[in-house]
Amino acid sequence: MRSAILNLKSFLFSPSSFQSLIPYSNDIWKMDEYTAQIDQIIPFLIENRDLLESHVTAAFVTDYFSRVPQEWIEYLHQFSYSQLIEISSILNQIQLAGLYNYISSAVNLSPHYPLYTQSFDVSVIEKYGMNPKKMHEVPRLAHYISGKAEQLGLKKAIDIGAGQGYLSHFLVTKAKLKVTAIEAKEHNSHESERRGKLICQRLKTDGEFENISLFVTADNISAYTNEPCVLIGLHTCGDLAASCIKLFLGDPQIKALVNVGCCYNHLTEYISPEAKQSADEYLAKIGHSFQGNSLDETLFAEEEAAGFPLSRYIKEKYPQFFLGRIPRVLAMSEACRAHIENPEATFKRFSYRSAFQILLTESYPQYENIFSVGSRIKSFNNFGDYISKAFNAMGLQNPYENVDVNAIYEERFRSKEKESAIIWSLRSILSGPIENIIILDRALYLREHGAETEIIQIFDKIHSPRNIALAAFKP
Ligand SMILES: C[S@@+](CC[C@H](N)C(=O)[O-])C[C@H]1O[C@@H](n2cnc3c(N)ncnc32)[C@H](O)[C@@H]1O
Repeated sequence: MRSAILNLKSFLFSPSSFQSLIPYSNDIWKMDEYTAQIDQIIPFLIENRDLLESHVTAAFVTDYFSRVPQEWIEYLHQFSYSQLIEISSILNQIQLAGLYNYISSAVNLSPHYPLYTQSFDVSVIEKYGMNPKKMHEVPRLAHYISGKAEQLGLKKAIDIGAGQGYLSHFLVTKAKLKVTAIEAKEHNSHESERRGKLICQRLKTDGEFENISLFVTADNISAYTNEPCVLIGLHTCGDLAASCIKLFLGDPQIKALVNVGCCYNHLTEYISPEAKQSADEYLAKIGHSFQGNSLDETLFAEEEAAGFPLSRYIKEKYPQFFLGRIPRVLAMSEACRAHIENPEATFKRFSYRSAFQILLTESYPQYENIFSVGSRIKSFNNFGDYISKAFNAMGLQNPYENVDVNAIYEERFRSKEKESAIIWSLRSILSGPIENIIILDRALYLREHGAETEIIQIFDKIHSPRNIALAAFKP
């Protein structure tokens, strides 16, 4: 095993549980299939912009409850918390036309791509250090990558943002690929080096594997693309996915790309002059964290540097369209396993968040437009305990120390719990269309640059929510 821990100068890079069950096939999506979906998703998101921009912390201090028709809220009161947490599951029981159309559109416009289920077996030695999520992800993604590499006659993979090397090591031991694992954080790179050596020793195999500690950019990638290769990335957070796409397009030796994105909250966006006024209004509305930062400080970037949108099609046809950080966070806020397993506790926590914001601003009016605690308070016994932890997290004195604050909650907020759960659920199903527009934009950009593309569902959403792989090939 070869090791090359380098320290090169960093440059900024420029240039629902509702699951698809379509069997995997090699069909390549055509460009107009992407644009047809985009033409449905963007108007749908624009139409529901009010709901997109709202967030649960601000529920009791804004017009949150009037962002959907009152009729829908009244109708949904009949459903239980466990039905509401996955609202798509009750679609067929809904008899209110407008509500039915809204939910079914959100479900239809969510990612539904062919499901890839083939996977490698994992030996006890290869499991070393992997948690159950990684155990689900790595053998499946490695199987897909190795199949593509074989079809294209590629012997080498470059893993960008390789972390501690779980995918890279597996490709060495199972797919017998030469792997260069590039990772910006030195600690991760060292761990990858250590883990890779250990696994190869125990398996008595001589994998060709190098660890590079480097923040990869268009200016430094070519040192590693000395032969035809596939560029891979598992959970390339924020703009890293867009960077990988541009590296693939820019380097003739990179013949294929397999990328799974994540952390859309870290994406930067280009706001065109046509979108500027709406974006400014949005920014003024959403407020700040208690450290004084805008909740959307990541929003703006120059056109060429921004992670979204990439495609010429979206930029030219929908110049007024932008997402914003709150909708991008929403893209990752679908009901997860913990929510589904305990819907009552989940909705109670959301309601406590909203109620705390009211009590906070009553005692500290300067925090009126500041939404700070978010999801940080994980464990608590009751509302009194919750707010004591929340004030503490903000470094503020708790003005309710000697008050029966649980009684205040019962009297003032309890009756709104169900309503707040209903709105959360109606909002959370927008996560699918938002994630889909980000994925389709990336795929379309690749097509606009002459690549063939394939989008698949590579993981089961319940095990790994960011579960869509985008692959691209040079014809
Ligand atoms: C979400 S982690 C995924 C790690 C790994 N692929 C996995 O799935 O276990 C993303 C990783 O990308 C790394 N990263 C981000 N930007 C990078 C860049 N431009 N060059 C190299 N690594 C980068 C981060 O340090 C982080 O470890």
